[in-house]
Amino acid sequence: MNPESVKTVADILRSANRICVLTGAGVSAESGIPTFRASDGLWENHAIEDVASPQGWQRNPQLVWDFYHARRAKAGSVLPNPGHAVLAQLEQRFGDRFTLVTQNVDGLHQRAGNRNVIELHGSLYQTRCTECGLVRDRGLEALDPMPHCACGGVERPNIVWFGEMLPPANWSRATKAANSCDVFLIVGTSAVVYPAASLIQTAKMQKRPARIIEFNLTETDATPYVDAGLYGPSGESLPALIHELQWD
Ligand code: OAD
Repeated sequence: MNPESVKTVADILRSANRICVLTGAGVSAESGIPTFRASDGLWENHAIEDVASPQGWQRNPQLVWDFYHARRAKAGSVLPNPGHAVLAQLEQRFGDRFTLVTQNVDGLHQRAGNRNVIELHGSLYQTRCTECGLVRDRGLEALDPMPHCACGGVERPNIVWFGEMLPPANWSRATKAANSCDVFLIVGTSAVVYPAASLIQTAKMQKRPARIIEFNLTETDATPYVDAGLYGPSGESLPALIHELQWD
């Protein structure tokens, strides 16, 4: 990590009033949860469209559930890492002037202590009835191979799959947060999945543009919008930043 960059980012954070964070799979990588775009179109050996699209669900719901049972078990076997911990510390410091928008479904931000979390792509913890629409919080307990609702309907994972709309209330809260922050942090996302990635432009296009800071292993599609970046594992760069700020 370049110490000068850490200082630059720390200065931006010191003058921040309202922070919005967008996280992606990279923030959980050091907890042991693999990212999506690591292996050409395959996700844990499945084609993404087979396990994360409405068409895949129509074709073979049991295959989809088997995949999500495994993801739930994995999420239950890992722990938040120091990057998650720093994002929870920032929320402690900024209170309701801090909003965390995540594309992750693993629940690790909440387990690290964040409360103001907007889950744009749903949650592994929840099921949704395909008949009556009831959403149930199931924690990470083992579920029936093909879970059913009390109404008799088949339940599906409450995850936003490719080609599906984001939950409108969450999206509206997320755009509001991006549109009212003065510092926007992008952590561990390739910034290629829309509309989530458009929050970066929203933050930048305010009358008084937010300062944008990126934390990633590499440059991404978001990098052209970025005012400063810390390139390295976020489980190291975020703790280095909080240490520089003496907020730890
Ligand atoms: P990706 O897998 O596309 O990108 C992960 C990003 O994290 C990459 O830019 C990596 O360079 C970066 N990265 C990896 N390890 C890191 C580390 N230790 N520290 C910092 N950065 C690291 O994941 P997302 O951007 O989250 O959607 O993908 C967005 C969405 O696409 C997901 O929510 C999912 C999906 O496929 C749905 O399921 C709807």
